Amino acid sequence: MEETIRRAAMLIKGARNMVLISGAGLSVDSGVKDFRSSSGWWRNIDPRTVATVEALEWNYDLFHEFYATRVTQLKEVAPHRGHSILAEWEKRGMLACVSTQNVDGLHQIAGSQTVHELHGTIREFRCHDCGRPHGEAAFLKKETCPCGGKLRPNVVLFGESLPEDAWQCTIDALKEADLVLVIGTSLQVAPVNQLPFLTRCRRIFINAEETGYEDRFDVFIKGRALDSLVAIQERLDAE
Ligand code: APR
Repeated sequence: MEETIRRAAMLIKGARNMVLISGAGLSVDSGVKDFRSSSGWWRNIDPRTVATVEALEWNYDLFHEFYATRVTQLKEVAPHRGHSILAEWEKRGMLACVSTQNVDGLHQIAGSQTVHELHGTIREFRCHDCGRPHGEAAFLKKETCPCGGKLRPNVVLFGESLPEDAWQCTIDALKEADLVLVIGTSLQVAPVNQLPFLTRCRRIFINAEETGYEDRFDVFIKGRALDSLVAIQERLDAE
């Protein structure tokens, strides 16, 4: 691990246009469940029953229970030191932007300014029918929109298209990137899992488990996001 931390720190030290692509594993160290590891959401729940438009339209009670649970849990979590280190790298001009699959808003709370939420957010809500914005309290109380429509988080459900702006900004950032850093994702979900490979620059992957994509990265750190980011920062401080 020490050698991979050293190599990663060397690449990051020289970066002036790094792009981060993050997934649920980055938030696990803040106490937020991921999806596909042994303790993830999809171990006990079939995503088709809760994270699709069909689930919203035909089984709203289960849909609402799943998202209301996650929204409520967010009140108990905070960004960890790894999120803060990433925000600091942006401030120092090393990290150009964060493109995240995460819907928890922890990057922004930690201070990251340029964050592209590729799978939306569960911190904002709207009417599924007319699109009118609604507050968290209305969603948690299971109110309906004055138009009669059901309320939902602004999360991208399976089968829905990704937010055009977040996607295009990520593509544009990757064109200029001098380093891609991927943290805490199984790289199982398209089209985000293609993003790291759209560039010709160096790539670093930090993940707790192997995913089968490791050999497509210049550096693979098998470890927790928090520990790895702290170790890299300590290495940078020692330079
Ligand atoms: N540090 C680093 N990696 C971790 C940690 C940790 N503390 N904990 C878990 N991981 C790894 C897991 O081993 C796994 O490979 O993070 C990865 C998380 O993968 P997923 O659970 O599949 O999450 P993600 O890749 O973000 O999922 C993509 O799928 O269900 C949809 O919309 C949802 O955005 C999500 C998308």
